[in-house]
Amino acid sequence: MVHRDQRNKVWSIEHPLKPNESLVVKQNRARGIKKFTYRFKASKGQRHWDNAWEMLRRGVKSPTPIAYFEQTESTGITHNYYVCEFVDAAFSVRKAFTAFGNGKESYEGFSKEKIIKAVAYFSCNMHNKKIIHHDLTGGNLLVTTENEEINITAIDIGRASINMMESVSEHQRLLDLMRCCYKLNWPNRELFMGYYFEAYGRKFSHRWKTSLSYYDWKLKTKKKLKRALKSKWGET
Ligand SMILES: Nc1ncnc2c1ncn2[C@@H]1O[C@H](COP(=O)(O)OP(=O)(O)O)[C@@H](O)[C@H]1O
Ligand SMILES: [Mg+2]
Repeated sequence: MVHRDQRNKVWSIEHPLKPNESLVVKQNRARGIKKFTYRFKASKGQRHWDNAWEMLRRGVKSPTPIAYFEQTESTGITHNYYVCEFVDAAFSVRKAFTAFGNGKESYEGFSKEKIIKAVAYFSCNMHNKKIIHHDLTGGNLLVTTENEEINITAIDIGRASINMMESVSEHQRLLDLMRCCYKLNWPNRELFMGYYFEAYGRKFSHRWKTSLSYYDWKLKTKKKLKRALKSKWGET
């Protein structure tokens, strides 16, 4: 089954050793200058691998790593692969947050409060452990359910930065949260931030509102610009 086929290709395969389990393969195709930089910098596959183990070590859930491969040519690495355990997720945070954005009070039998709290607590714990995801979208947060409980697993962790010493500042935390929060409406955003600051154990800061308004504005402008460019190209 193919999950995604853009710059990266993501698909699942049967686990070669465990009959009822699956693995996910993520292929990264390095083009142009990237091919060259991989001579000095770890490949996307290796960064997924390193980050996953370090996140697990710090108690932040990500699928168990299985392997990574690099296909090297004389020009440098062109293709690299990361293999990890397939998470049999009930749904993604994106799906749930979109439903809440449309006014739904629950998703897949779980209340809005329960899901939003789980995502806020997961994100805060990750930040407390000195990890910034850098692509914290709802699509990259998978929700698994066990009895009445929900668990969050972060995927797409190739861009994450994991600090040794330095704590993640409030500003960095808010920047990281924008991508997953913008799907929510303002009252739900307030709910999310309430839970986040509860987990953070700091005084609630209203600064997030300015950051999110700016993020909304930036996204809208980007979309408008794209549309304008498209229609322009369409004419010619
Ligand atoms: N370990 C996994 N278990 C289950 N599904 C996964 C896993 N990894 C990726 N997926 C699915 O594939 C999609 C794309 O994977 P992702 O790593 O986010 O790649 P991209 O860089 O294209 O966003 C995800 O949104 C998810 O639906
Ligand atoms: Mg993704």
